[in-house]
Amino acid sequence: MDEIRMLGREEASQRIEELADVLVDCVMGGASVGFMAPYGRADALSFWQGVIETVADGATLLFVAERNGRIAGTVQVGMRQMPNQGHRADIKKLLVKESERGSGLARRLMDAAEDAAAAGGKTVLVLDTATGSPAETVYRKLGWQWVGVIPDYALYPDGRFCSTTLFYKRVGSGAATA
Ligand SMILES: CC(C)(COP(=O)(O)OP(=O)(O)OC[C@H]1O[C@@H](n2cnc3c(N)ncnc32)[C@H](O)[C@@H]1OP(=O)(O)O)[C@@H](O)C(=O)NCCC(=O)NCCS
Repeated sequence: MDEIRMLGREEASQRIEELADVLVDCVMGGASVGFMAPYGRADALSFWQGVIETVADGATLLFVAERNGRIAGTVQVGMRQMPNQGHRADIKKLLVKESERGSGLARRLMDAAEDAAAAGGKTVLVLDTATGSPAETVYRKLGWQWVGVIPDYALYPDGRFCSTTLFYKRVGSGAATA
């Protein structure tokens, strides 16, 4: 059974090992999500500790997809922006364990993230992803608007250059805007 939930600081801290498992799985599977190989549990725990601090102060909304009670996927909404961009949020670290992919978890996580951002008054959402990655296809399917490609923006975990594609989506009252 699958469930999408938002985690607060306390629960995220209690479940940090499961969050770390998802991130290590994705990075070691080759996803370009900010980290280099080899990437281990200690690296992931340290990353999530930082995220949890931002959850605590309301800057980040953290969602997880549970499958049979275990975290199988996650996504974050960066809610805190500069004063002239308060209507914007950033979608970050959409991650689904390799063994659980292809069964709609990312779609459900993104639905929850977009709804929460809209409920929080956001009208424009932005994200970037590795050009040519499965995620790029996913975002197009979920109605995100392609903006463009920045060549060699980042690296894959194995050190190869990785281009980045930018997307945006209007939500909430912004969805009515052309
Ligand atoms: C990108 C990712 C999150 C997708 O997760 P997922 O749970 O498999 O995605 P879903 O099953 O919800 O698929 C959503 C849609 O995209 C499609 N899709 C998913 N993976 C696809 C792929 N590899 N190729 C083509 N389409 C794909 C699905 O068919 C579905 O479309 P539909 O609802 O119209 O049938 C997952 O592949 C992942 O974690 N990748 C590594 C981390 C990463 O790159 N994250 C993005 C960071 S920006």
